[in-house]
Amino acid sequence: MSKPLTPELVEPLLRGRFGRPYLWSEGCASTQDALRGSALPEGAVAVTEHQTAGRGRDGRRWEDAPGLGLLLSVLLRPPSGSPVQQLSLVAGLAVAETVEDARDLAAVKWPNDVLLGGHKVAGILLESSGVEVVCGIGVNVLQTEDELPANARLPAASLLTATGHAPDRAMLLVSLLETLEHRYDSWRRRGLTSFLDELEARNALRGRRVEVGGEAGTAGRIAPDGRLTLLRADGTTVLVASGEVQEGGRG
Ligand code: BTN
Repeated sequence: MSKPLTPELVEPLLRGRFGRPYLWSEGCASTQDALRGSALPEGAVAVTEHQTAGRGRDGRRWEDAPGLGLLLSVLLRPPSGSPVQQLSLVAGLAVAETVEDARDLAAVKWPNDVLLGGHKVAGILLESSGVEVVCGIGVNVLQTEDELPANARLPAASLLTATGHAPDRAMLLVSLLETLEHRYDSWRRRGLTSFLDELEARNALRGRRVEVGGEAGTAGRIAPDGRLTLLRADGTTVLVASGEVQEGGRG
């Protein structure tokens, strides 16, 4: 276990708005609950060392190994009426940029996973109500092979198993918050448009046969509104807004 991410350790390293206030606990059910429905300002962050009921997408659990990953939730208050489902791609891009090392570009697997070397190292969960969005991020950082979830939907890796290097969790956290803030501010100003090329360069599904949202086809570009383009077998295309992606190999 590395040093706990206490306020004493993390707050002096913060450089922007995100992380203020910084709520840390040794353990909790889910960091999402510390922020949901609160009167806290945008940029408030909840971090814990261990969750007893960590949530993943589609009702799944997010399993952690205490003190070895990053478990955080960030409170966002986007303008009302904005397309908040796009925030999983905004956060995915920020996480990908933060976790990659010089040798390996991290990929974003639409709509919410981050992969290194084809293995899932991070996942994003958006929970929104009204004008509040709680963006939950789980990153596997220091787990060894046998500390990673064995029966996950996608093969899991940690930054340690994927790169052979053990990053400093506090530095990783502050760099993630800074990158997320920067990407979020750009999204508020200009939407997804300015990220499309970067997303495309990291699009893990491009060219893969997939089934998603009741549609089957070969995955293409991520559209300007964040939907995934699918090329159907009959040559027509369809845009898919959300859903669990089942992969069936290269198209
Ligand atoms: C997924 O891949 O399905 C999303 C996983 C999101 C996990 C993070 S860990 C911090 C935050 N608190 C939770 O309960 N879930 C998110």
